[in-house]
Amino acid sequence: MARVYNFSAGPSMLPEPVLRKAQAELLDYHGSGQSVMEMSHRSKWFEQIIQDTEASLRRLMQIPDNYKVGFFQGGATQQFAMVPLNFMTTGKADYIVTGNFSNLAAKEAAKFGQVNVVASSKDKNFTYIPDVSAIPYDADASYIHICQNNTIFGTQYVELPQVDGIPLVADMSSMILSRPVDVTQYGCIYFGVQKNVAPAGMAIAIIREDLLGHAADTVPTMMNYTTLINKDSMYNTPPCWCIYMTGLVLDYLEHEVGGLAAMQQINEAKAKVLYDYLDSQDFYRNPVEHRYRSTMNVTFTSPDPDTDKKFCAQAAEAGLVNLKGHRLVGGMRASIYNAMPPAGIDKLVEFMEAFRKANA
Ligand SMILES: Cc1ncc(COP(=O)(O)O)c(C=O)c1O
Repeated sequence: MARVYNFSAGPSMLPEPVLRKAQAELLDYHGSGQSVMEMSHRSKWFEQIIQDTEASLRRLMQIPDNYKVGFFQGGATQQFAMVPLNFMTTGKADYIVTGNFSNLAAKEAAKFGQVNVVASSKDKNFTYIPDVSAIPYDADASYIHICQNNTIFGTQYVELPQVDGIPLVADMSSMILSRPVDVTQYGCIYFGVQKNVAPAGMAIAIIREDLLGHAADTVPTMMNYTTLINKDSMYNTPPCWCIYMTGLVLDYLEHEVGGLAAMQQINEAKAKVLYDYLDSQDFYRNPVEHRYRSTMNVTFTSPDPDTDKKFCAQAAEAGLVNLKGHRLVGGMRASIYNAMPPAGIDKLVEFMEAFRKANA
């Protein structure tokens, strides 16, 4: 059966060579006579997998030694609670709300302390990112929280809030590993893996050492970052398969793509093809302020909702699936994460143009 181009916002496509490697190793991982799905997390094979996976992530992202890495269950949504439970030491935190997920993160944090929404782009339906240099940050905030790429609204930060002495915490779920980032600009980076990294079932957090160890004693064991981090993510049974798949994707990025700078070039070229097409015609519309257009999630609408529906149905028949936009935005959304090949974008643009001609 032919594989489709899957534009889903997550779970999303995985690189085909990774799927083939997992297939080849499925029944007998490295002579163990078992699948990684079956083996003990305390086995020598799995111990090696988890160590190698963390080491690959550290190399690829150039994570400095004073940052810890942990593999957590509960997805990015659980991180919305873990961040305040572990880092809200002054009882206050600043949140910038640029879409659905940063709003959910702020609401969750408000259960544990005072959340100041210091800026929001809600006034224009989240089609831009507020000017981070013009925000009245609270000098007493424990941290500043952002969602660096807004999966639903298709925006991304260009500049970062940088306030002396206040750590920046970023949800990078929908842009992680799509390009290099300077880890030293952040106190904590977290992301769900199901878009650019692995199958669903895990979040990864990268945390500057000095932020750890300040959670209250009442914080549940599994919600305290130090529980897992002090045990190399093996306090209890970890999501073994997900960690294994993460390792395969990281190997692929490092050795076949050639690192994150190379990945960024590919991603920017892919996004340019789509945005250039959108800018060249009047049938489809992308509402995002150009400067803040996401490289990962491209939203667009046709002239009316019925035509949107028809577009998605016909696209699916052509092997271009999951293009329906999120219900908060409507229209279409093409999520073009790392594993979407350039040929998928070319095919999408070709389809869009044929559909425009037939329906304009
Ligand atoms: C930016 C962002 N943050 C958080 C989430 C929630 O992630 P999860 O489903 O892993 O809890 C998503 C999911 O799509 C997302 O795109």
